[in-house]
Amino acid sequence: LKYETARFEASYGTIAQLPEPTTPEVSFVGRSNVGKSSLLNKLIGRKSLAKVSSQPGKTANVNFFDVDGVRFVDLPGYGFAKVSQAEKQRWANLISGYFEQERSFNLVVSLVDIRHDAQQLDRDMLGYLEQEGLPFVVALTKADKLSRSKQAQQRQALARQFGLDASRMLVTSSQTGQGIQELRTMIEDACL
Ligand code: GTP
Ligand code: MG
Repeated sequence: LKYETARFEASYGTIAQLPEPTTPEVSFVGRSNVGKSSLLNKLIGRKSLAKVSSQPGKTANVNFFDVDGVRFVDLPGYGFAKVSQAEKQRWANLISGYFEQERSFNLVVSLVDIRHDAQQLDRDMLGYLEQEGLPFVVALTKADKLSRSKQAQQRQALARQFGLDASRMLVTSSQTGQGIQELRTMIEDACL
């Protein structure tokens, strides 16, 4: 993929607005603030094509990016308590509504903070992806916050807790670029 050609396509606040799926899609899901937008930016080599914030709840819409004919989909996060019930529900509807559509789900990148043990909302998300038969990989984020030995330990622990093979868990950092090349290879294998 020619990542340098990446461009913002459009932002959608309701599911009904989403355009027809005309290309392979790679989507990014995970808790608010886990690093979805940052990982997308790192993959395409652009600092802030997708908006990033230290405050959870930054991405409030479904954002489409075109990357050399593949669509990257930045979704709102789940599990952010400090937002109104109505807004939380709107985000949840965007996420579930997106996956309920008839689209080309080539790869779902499911992000989990490497520092924390498995949380229920992440179990639910992974269970859903598994149940729907959607192709996914787990990106363990913010690996720069742990030593290499701790990273390996957490990867094994999280694999066990989620009941997944460790080969499906990729250690990543949007800060150092760790795991980014591997993730690009997985995306290309899934889309081309
Ligand atoms: P929402 O859009 O609110 O759901 O969040 P998000 O998952 O898109 O997270 P975002 O990319 O906005 O990043 C949230 C915060 O985490 C920002 O302050 C980022 O700088 C930080 N962050 C993201 N990835 C990394 C990483 O790999 N390492 C470190 N140290 N910080 C990161
Ligand atoms: Mg975001």
